[in-house]
Amino acid sequence: MNTVTSNMKEEISDAIIRQDEQSLTHEYQEQGEFLALDSFLSQEAIHDLMQEVEHVRPQLNRNFIPGHKKGGSVSYFIVRDSAPSLTALYRDPALIAWLSQLAGERLLLCPEDDPHACALYFYTEAGDHIGYHYDTSYYKGARYTVLIGLLDRSTSRLECRLHTKDPSKETTELTLDTKPGSFIFFNGDKLHHAVTPLGENEERIVLTLQYVTNPEMGRFNRWFSNMKDAVGYFGLSALFRRS
Ligand SMILES: [Fe+2]
Repeated sequence: MNTVTSNMKEEISDAIIRQDEQSLTHEYQEQGEFLALDSFLSQEAIHDLMQEVEHVRPQLNRNFIPGHKKGGSVSYFIVRDSAPSLTALYRDPALIAWLSQLAGERLLLCPEDDPHACALYFYTEAGDHIGYHYDTSYYKGARYTVLIGLLDRSTSRLECRLHTKDPSKETTELTLDTKPGSFIFFNGDKLHHAVTPLGENEERIVLTLQYVTNPEMGRFNRWFSNMKDAVGYFGLSALFRRS
């Protein structure tokens, strides 16, 4: 194991030890498969990850869908090639085991051809945002999202609506900032969420990790998901790289 991987392993193990797994599992279920922690990874770990983020930043793909989203993304393909700590974090077996415990499901890595698997979202220009959406699973199983705040010098907020698909519960609205080291975990089909527009001279960078319960995908869903990624996130080059 190289130094980068073993350092990240230690950071993750320390982060998990600091948590009360039982109460967080309860909180996750009570909130309709959603959990937010102000602080998960240490500031030292975030500092190391940010060095890799700066290294891949020149490769970001800017995207704009009028009325829905504007921002920049770096795909898993670039992360995997150039950001070993981010990749080690995504693949860490202890992290996956802990998330599986919270979710009550055995979580798996996404297939290697999914550009969202471990990706970076950059909000760097005034007005960068994303409208309300679900992280819909195009897989045969469920899809789970982890968000880790890496940099936040912004007035931009993550807005969440819990229990939108559960008629027995009232919808709860939350407004969260994603400060460096913060952690959010949810079932993509359950959480309705958005990011409010970035102000002038502000910046916000978030890491996203995706896990699935079944990595198979039907042919139509594969096609639809590829098109959505090419237009909304990572550009056509990621599409060609994927196929
Ligand atoms: Fe999302």
